Amino acid sequence: MINAAAGHLVMEDQPHQVASLKLPLGFRREDLAMSTPTTTKQDSSMFLRVAITLQTLVVFAAPITAGLLLSSPDGRVLHSVSAYGVFTAALLHLLAAILVWRPGGGSPRPILYAVGFLGLTLAQIALGIAQVKTLHVPLGVLMFGASLLRLSQVSAGRRTHLAASARR
Ligand code: HEM
Repeated sequence: MINAAAGHLVMEDQPHQVASLKLPLGFRREDLAMSTPTTTKQDSSMFLRVAITLQTLVVFAAPITAGLLLSSPDGRVLHSVSAYGVFTAALLHLLAAILVWRPGGGSPRPILYAVGFLGLTLAQIALGIAQVKTLHVPLGVLMFGASLLRLSQVSAGRRTHLAASARR
């Protein structure tokens, strides 16, 4: 919300609302449109969705490489590569969640999910190295389910947002 010097200018966060505002002398519509944080917010949300999609895909690949680990001599290297992939994707997820929170001024909740998933990833790596298969395998399944659930939440949130914008 902007209170312009002349008094009664209130700016909403949607560009189409900028078009209907009465501007005080010396203000240009372009100045207002440029100051909206909408684009940055959309970019960050898009990055979050891409990061969670990537994370879900690499977690999905982990049991496949685990099968190779159990059945072929090169499988151990492949499973380690996929473990690095999951770790990298979880870090990207955290970075994206921080970006959604900071410039967009959004909720810090996505950061909690991302930190939780990174914690599960570190536990999973420790259990794998320690060869505790009875916990390692079910935790891998849980991680895939959690990642898929989070992806569906983020995608549903975007659909709701688009539908609400279309109605305005
Ligand atoms: C459902 C998914 C998964 C299954 C079924 C699975 C299965 C396995 C199995 C059978 C082992 C060999 C343990 C042993 O040598 O006794 C292993 C090792 C390992 N796993 Fe997984 N895993 C899964 C997901 C993951 C994920 C998501 C990560 C990383 C985030 C991971 C990281 C590791 C690591 C670091 C090792 C040790 C590799 C080594 O000793 O060189 N695993 N896993």
